[in-house]
Amino acid sequence: MKEFDLLVIGEINPDLILRGQDVTPAFGQAEKLIEDAALTIGSSSVIMACGAARLGLKVAFIGAVGDDEFGRFMLDQMGQRGIDTSACVVDPAVPTGMSVILSRPDDRAILTFSGTMSTLTIDQIDQGMLARARHLHLGSFFLLDALRPELPALFARAKAAGLSTSLDTNWDPQERWDSGLSQLLPHIDLFLPNEAEAKLIAGKDDLEQALSRLAEMVPTIAVKLGAEGGLVRHQGQEWRQPPLPVAVVDTTGAGDSFDAGFVYGFLNSWSQAASLKLACACGSLSTRASGGTGAQPTLIEARHALARSGF
Ligand SMILES: Nc1ncnc2c1ncn2[C@@H]1O[C@H](COP(=O)(O)OP(=O)(O)OP(=O)(O)O)[C@@H](O)[C@H]1O
Ligand SMILES: [Mg+2]
Repeated sequence: MKEFDLLVIGEINPDLILRGQDVTPAFGQAEKLIEDAALTIGSSSVIMACGAARLGLKVAFIGAVGDDEFGRFMLDQMGQRGIDTSACVVDPAVPTGMSVILSRPDDRAILTFSGTMSTLTIDQIDQGMLARARHLHLGSFFLLDALRPELPALFARAKAAGLSTSLDTNWDPQERWDSGLSQLLPHIDLFLPNEAEAKLIAGKDDLEQALSRLAEMVPTIAVKLGAEGGLVRHQGQEWRQPPLPVAVVDTTGAGDSFDAGFVYGFLNSWSQAASLKLACACGSLSTRASGGTGAQPTLIEARHALARSGF
């Protein structure tokens, strides 16, 4: 029995969410009033870790923060949600990163200062943690600038140590869509892109062609389709799942909550279809509140919501 079900390596930063009908800034020193502002748990990797902990997985996290209020806020919030942060590093030389999210009902724009996200190095990672976990997940591949070149070797080590692995690259701010990703994908068991990311990474305009290309490298690919739900491709077979009908408040972190649900099913040897159902439920339910973690469901909540919708 391993101490942790899930070890997440990734970026740690808060989100400042500015929400309203019209959140487009107007320059020329104009001031606009908006409906809501909140400082919340941010970063794709931490939101995924929180979603997994909420479902009942034992989760540990590896990442870096600066010696500042944003860093302390994040480590405190993670601890409150039962995530082991003993392997997180406080780097006095670099400030914690931060995302400002301009969120309106149909879309959002994100401004990110990378801070410690881009400076996390392999030397800051306690590799002894690999022996204590069943599964290794990485979020935000394209934001981890200093760590990225080391990731294929680190994941090869994790696989050799018997861990299963998953990856959600999220968006590439440089829009280059490789940066060494093709060396990492062969060490990944479960790949979790959204539709746009899957197409851009595979270099195909058509989703089915993109899936065929990615399936040459990764055995299981679960794709997030936003308001269309999701799909999973495994051993040449494909399953689709619509989302749950919810009153959407904020879609921040829906993809990360989906990842948590799919990894939960994966770690419990559920069928692909059952894992996808839970993933879509976790994604949909997470949109009921502002921020990535405010409405993440427990397993029982997700199951009840699925049953109510007849899934
Ligand atoms: N408008 C919506 N209504 C209902 N469910 C939704 C909606 N948007 C997203 N979801 C659910 O959340 C899941 C993941 O969302 P999405 O496809 O937006 O992921 P993503 O693009 O990776 O997002 P992120 O910005 O968090 O990385 C979807 O598969 C779906 O089940
Ligand atoms: Mg995503």
